[in-house]
Amino acid sequence: MRLIVADDYDAMSQSAGDELVSIITKRPSASVLVATGNTPMGLYRELANRRQNRQFDASRLRVFQLDEYLGLAPDDRRSLYGWMLRSFVEPLGIPSENVVRLPGDSDDPDAAGAAFEETILAAGGIDVAILGLGPNGHLGFNEPPAEPDSPTRVVDLTSASIDSNGQYWGGTEQVPRRALTTGMRILLAARQTLLVVSGAHKRDILSRTVSGPITPDVPASLLQAAPNVMVFADRAAWGSDLSRQAVQALLPATEI
Ligand code: GLP
Repeated sequence: MRLIVADDYDAMSQSAGDELVSIITKRPSASVLVATGNTPMGLYRELANRRQNRQFDASRLRVFQLDEYLGLAPDDRRSLYGWMLRSFVEPLGIPSENVVRLPGDSDDPDAAGAAFEETILAAGGIDVAILGLGPNGHLGFNEPPAEPDSPTRVVDLTSASIDSNGQYWGGTEQVPRRALTTGMRILLAARQTLLVVSGAHKRDILSRTVSGPITPDVPASLLQAAPNVMVFADRAAWGSDLSRQAVQALLPATEI
């Protein structure tokens, strides 16, 4: 795991953008798992600008949706699918046939989750996962406790997640209580992972993610045992309690 601490949100988004463009340039047909939430939006704007400046071509990327509320049609204003299309797929000019939706409105969501995993495996697995960090350490909607081999499945949202997701849709009463999430076993098998974390409210959970015990109770801490994970944080999220030397002793491959 590498931790890159940037001065502020914009610098963090640029730094994650550098990394993602370099990955896509090397592998233009990469399979990408795409998070929504507020944190990656700066990164996605950064990518859209760079694509407009012809710094890379995203038209061959294959996109997989990370998570979705249960029972929402794709055109429901709260659907994470719609948010992913508006913020990532459309600005990058990715053809719709390259996008794999996680169908939270399926009659049999568990079977749909299993089929989704088969599609990922048939594509050769996830090359790069773009993730945000939930306030309780969840990744996607893998609520704690989440076992490392957990499949893509239906989950009950915790009150922490319902509260934090209320900000997207104007109140917690708008937030569905259940979701379909890509499971930890797919996330942890990604060839590369970029985790973006911003803001002082993520400080405690970020430190538990990168330097706490590896435990299903903090699903993001399982990334410590995964290959090629880069954590991009801004200084507000990392805090200044630890000296540069202390952080480097903790995580040797750290850029501060
Ligand atoms: C949400 C989503 C996650 C997202 C996380 C962080 O609940 N299910 O996919 O990464 O919480 O969101 P934010 O970046 O807005 O803090």
